[in-house]
Amino acid sequence: MSGHGTPIPMTSAKCGPLKGVAEVPGDKSISHRSLILGAMAVGETCIFGLLEGDDVLDTAKAMRAFGAEVTDHGGGEWSVYGVGVGGFAEPENIIDCGNSGTGVRLIMGAMATSPITATFTGDTSLNSRPMARITDPIALFGAQSFGRKGDRLPMTIVGAADPVPVKYTVPMPSAQVKSAVLLAGLNAPGQTVVIEREATRDHTERMLAGFGAEITTEHTDEGHVITLTGQPELKPQTITVPRDPSSAAFPVCAALIVQGSDVLVPNIGLNPTRAGLFTTLQEMGANLSYENERTEGGEPVADLRARYSPDMQGVEVPPARAASMIDEYPVLSVVAAFAKGETIMRGVKELRVKESDRIEAMATGLRANGIEVKDGPDWWIVTGNGPDNVPGGATCASHLDHRIAMSFMILGMGAQNPVSLDDGSPITTSFPIFEPLMTALGAKIRRNNH
Ligand code: S3P
Repeated sequence: MSGHGTPIPMTSAKCGPLKGVAEVPGDKSISHRSLILGAMAVGETCIFGLLEGDDVLDTAKAMRAFGAEVTDHGGGEWSVYGVGVGGFAEPENIIDCGNSGTGVRLIMGAMATSPITATFTGDTSLNSRPMARITDPIALFGAQSFGRKGDRLPMTIVGAADPVPVKYTVPMPSAQVKSAVLLAGLNAPGQTVVIEREATRDHTERMLAGFGAEITTEHTDEGHVITLTGQPELKPQTITVPRDPSSAAFPVCAALIVQGSDVLVPNIGLNPTRAGLFTTLQEMGANLSYENERTEGGEPVADLRARYSPDMQGVEVPPARAASMIDEYPVLSVVAAFAKGETIMRGVKELRVKESDRIEAMATGLRANGIEVKDGPDWWIVTGNGPDNVPGGATCASHLDHRIAMSFMILGMGAQNPVSLDDGSPITTSFPIFEPLMTALGAKIRRNNH
């Protein structure tokens, strides 16, 4: 099964020390938001360091379909000539968001309060993911949705002609849902209020403020109360996208488990709503340091240095940290296999509705490679036996999920026997240079049909 063309089977084998500088691509979350908010501003937004992965390229295409002029100037430099809040045109064709939950959910929110109709679809993975989390709140603004059974894509959204502002408490920890409601609130009159009980990534709030919207966040007993004043004129911006901590996680974790490694991963966005993995790794005893800490474009940034860490111990990850590392649990479970003892991950139900059921996908693959994993509806526990006791040797399924694919390739770099993957093609959704970057550091990854 592949929604990405021909499957690309791959194998990753134990390698010598990983050494060098890993220049990972731009942040995926910030890249999507730069294009969408650029399209809703009046005038030209310039973006440097945009992630040119399939997910973000699909969002760029979608913004063109809604009437924005999106230009690729080469080398990660893009411009978006926006149509203004409420200025979206009705797309002539179906919007295909590929594999991207973030893309489709944010765009549905952004168009939900304009008097236009749009139909959305995606690949097999995206078309099986729940959309009620978006259709419920946008209905409060006055938008209608018509999807397949269970609120699945393909789905048509009829935007509200006379939107009303809403007050909405996000029922699950989800930055996508929070962001969709805020983007919908942009074209509603008056104040839209979003309440989140657990803090999730706040790139939308930061960027809205940067584009000149009136937005405040109050920390109360109810949680974070975010208030946005609707119908602003968004002012175009120049945005430098920090490098993605979720992509940095792969070379960092590889360096921790491969003997003798020393890898520098520069210019990584370390927004506290994203940096939970690195805190967890340090608690496990990883030799990981932040160098050259600074702020760029409103986001904290640092260079990460990761060295081989043979003495890591399993830890219990606090559930309150889950949102700040939600995309990193798959690769954490790989590091846990090389640590000693149990790594306990609780409060992670959301992992079951990502690009794949990530607990199921990792547990199955890790067990096949000789690692003990226990799991339940919203928890899992990986038991490691130290760095030299990871058997490997199995073929794993990527389930159309880029982070599952990359996690198993990292597993192979430290395991006793090579680890194979049925299909590495999803990797291009978020980290198109993963193979050459890891190979340049010293990894042994090969495509099996070449
Ligand atoms: C994202 C939010 C998270 C994350 C995804 C990107 C975003 O999803 O898993 O990769 O950019 O807002 P949820 O909102 O479903 O937690």
